[in-house]
Amino acid sequence: MGFFDHKKVLVTGGASFIGSHLVDALIKRGARVRIADNLSSGRLANIQNHIDDKTIEFFEVSLDRTEVIEKMAEGIQIIFHLAADHGGRGYVDLHQAACASNLALDGMVIKAAHKMGVEKIVFASSGCVYPNHIQNDPKQILYLTEDMVGPPYDADNTYGWAKLMGEMTLKAYYKDYGLKSAACRYFTVYGERGHENHAVIAMIARAFVKQSPFVVWGTGEQIRNWTNVHDIVSGTLLAAEKIDDGTAINLGTMERTKVIDAVKEVMHYTGHQAEIELHPEMPTGPYNRVADNALAKKLLGWEPEIKFMDGLHRTIDWYFANKNADEVAKTLGVRLTER
Ligand SMILES: NC(=O)c1ccc[n+]([C@@H]2O[C@H](COP(=O)([O-])OP(=O)(O)OC[C@H]3O[C@@H](n4cnc5c(N)ncnc54)[C@H](O)[C@@H]3O)[C@@H](O)[C@H]2O)c1
Repeated sequence: MGFFDHKKVLVTGGASFIGSHLVDALIKRGARVRIADNLSSGRLANIQNHIDDKTIEFFEVSLDRTEVIEKMAEGIQIIFHLAADHGGRGYVDLHQAACASNLALDGMVIKAAHKMGVEKIVFASSGCVYPNHIQNDPKQILYLTEDMVGPPYDADNTYGWAKLMGEMTLKAYYKDYGLKSAACRYFTVYGERGHENHAVIAMIARAFVKQSPFVVWGTGEQIRNWTNVHDIVSGTLLAAEKIDDGTAINLGTMERTKVIDAVKEVMHYTGHQAEIELHPEMPTGPYNRVADNALAKKLLGWEPEIKFMDGLHRTIDWYFANKNADEVAKTLGVRLTER
């Protein structure tokens, strides 16, 4: 019997981009899945097949009240806590108050899980917990190791601070009450069902609507380690199996890709030709953010399997096969900074 066979799991935010892929994988492994999502950015279409097949329990609820969370946690063994007020760079930079609500959300979910006797929480944390001040120089070969999160803390926006507090709260609950947990620091996730408010999907959308000139936020020199959602899901499942004590691990590739190089590949693969127009005044984020994934290798035996270029091509194929150009053209301006 596998670890997840017949396990009763709750996925908060399970209708989201990452959440819905996680749900697919949990069902394949025999888990009994409940989803709680207020559909503020999650989409029913992401999980509609499971609703139709009656393979999941879906509750459209907002987890901003203790009694709702307690009801959702009833009879649950593992909570994958992905619900968050979150979006891409444009969103987290421009919606500080909204993202700060995650402080309350995470605190309430953790407290209710403990009260309801949940065995473990697996928390969707983020590369945004790393100190901003060490991520400024794109020429420096820097791989962020987990121990770099420490005094002087300097997380990325209220969004990053809330994730950091979520991690710390989980560690405290393990120490004080024995509530098991793992925190997965996701790094810039991309793939099928992704949103235009994240860079990779935004680039693809611009090519899809044949934007000319082709707009790029920042100088284009900023470096990321975009990580495919399928690798993120496999790492998250392993963390649920193998980590109990609240340890936070990076889930991210160690491929260093410049934004401008990703843009050029998107244009090349889609055949879209246009002049590139740089907008350094727009939300950009740190200039040098790449994970070190040695700890995930050691503790989980996890390594990302999907090379960025392969995953990028797959994601472009998905986007072009599933989207309508007129609709994307009409909404893209708003979708870059909203959820
Ligand atoms: N996408 C990334 O690159 C990335 C990187 C690091 C961390 N994360 C984290 O991963 C998780 C999933 O993110 P995502 O990119 O799949 O998309 P997302 O931001 O759309 O996911 C959040 C989900 O939570 C739901 N939600 C929000 N507030 C809620 C509430 N009060 N009650 C119930 N449901 C609520 C939303 O409807 C959505 O389905 C989030 O916690 C996010 O912070 C994502």
